[in-house]
Amino acid sequence: MKTLDIDFVRAQFPAFAEPSLAGQAFFENAGGSYTCAPVIARLERYYRQRKVQPYAPYAASQLAGAEMDEARARLAELMGVATDELSFGPSTSANTYVLAQAFRQWMEPGDAVIVTNQDHEANSGPWRRLAEAGFEVREWQIDPESGLLDPADLENLLDERVRLVCFPHCSNVVGEINDVAGIVDVARAAGVRTCVDGVSYAPHGFADVGALGCDVYLFSAYKTYGPHQGIMVIREDFGQALPNQGHHFNGGTLYKRFTPAGPDHAQVAACAGMADYIEALSAHHGGPAGGAGAARHAHDVMRAQEVAVLQPLLDYLAARNDLRLIGPRRAAGRAPTVAVELRGPGEEAARALAAHGIMAGGGNFYAQRPLGAMGIDTEKGVLRLSFVHYTTRAEVDALIAALDQVL
Ligand SMILES: Cc1ncc(COP(=O)(O)O)c(C=O)c1O
Repeated sequence: MKTLDIDFVRAQFPAFAEPSLAGQAFFENAGGSYTCAPVIARLERYYRQRKVQPYAPYAASQLAGAEMDEARARLAELMGVATDELSFGPSTSANTYVLAQAFRQWMEPGDAVIVTNQDHEANSGPWRRLAEAGFEVREWQIDPESGLLDPADLENLLDERVRLVCFPHCSNVVGEINDVAGIVDVARAAGVRTCVDGVSYAPHGFADVGALGCDVYLFSAYKTYGPHQGIMVIREDFGQALPNQGHHFNGGTLYKRFTPAGPDHAQVAACAGMADYIEALSAHHGGPAGGAGAARHAHDVMRAQEVAVLQPLLDYLAARNDLRLIGPRRAAGRAPTVAVELRGPGEEAARALAAHGIMAGGGNFYAQRPLGAMGIDTEKGVLRLSFVHYTTRAEVDALIAALDQVL
């Protein structure tokens, strides 16, 4: 496999050529990534040339509708699912909320769901609210030291009453990449559906949802080089079984069943630019130019770069005795989303880093449950240092030098 061509990559992101951002290294990617050039170009083209009601008979409208369809079809192909199994919503939080309403109507008295305390609140709170309707909510708990989920604990929670397990592909503060396929196998053997929050994983490589086998997979385009959209994959059989949450006359169309809000046409269309980028990345590094193979190849190239650049940061943080490094200390198997507990508030450290040209964030990142379970004061929060494949070793060195000054 070719190693990542970092110059090629950074040339795809206008932020790296933006004078107002020059000299600053970006380490809050888990909050929202930079946007790739094809997405920006499509967004601008849409607003200039196609900003009309889509799917009408005139040319501009036809182009608008076709580009929205293209986005869904190409992203679905990258993720190994059928076009109608992928839908867009305002955000992952909104998508999960709608899905949980459908689930509430579908469940029967005595049913139970399993949630984790490793998840971001988006894949936790909406499901926990099922308790208000009388359903049992069971919690799959992390180890309070490591922050990790043990699949053996899940097996102990499963029985014939459980209908759904919700869990993250990767937590936005622990960073460990969960074995989605393995967890799905355990759930499926018990006849239980699965809902995976892929938000913290997708920027490090599009998931092959067909291969993972989960029933629902959610992620956020604005953290994955795209515009501010939530993307939801829901497999056909499950999507048809759950009650329609859209307009009654749209219930026959799978991708409209769980997106009651009118879509943001321009942003949906611009999401095709995410596919442009991933496919170009694959092709540039000797992989296929399209489809799930391109996503897999791009994923592997991106991950290799991330792992190489992450390990020195983990080694540096692990060697300090004035902080607590959250999550695994080995780069392979974890995302470059690194939270550290400091003596003082995480946000204070982030502010100090800003003066050294480091853009980072502090707080609890809506991960109150995992942080609380690990004994961390959620008001104090953590400093989070998160990056993706476009981050260079030099930027990580600059971060380490800045941490030396600030901590
Ligand atoms: C892991 C994780 N899940 C879900 C969300 C919610 O995504 P959205 O902002 O699209 O609602 C976030 C956002 O930070 C996240 O980090």
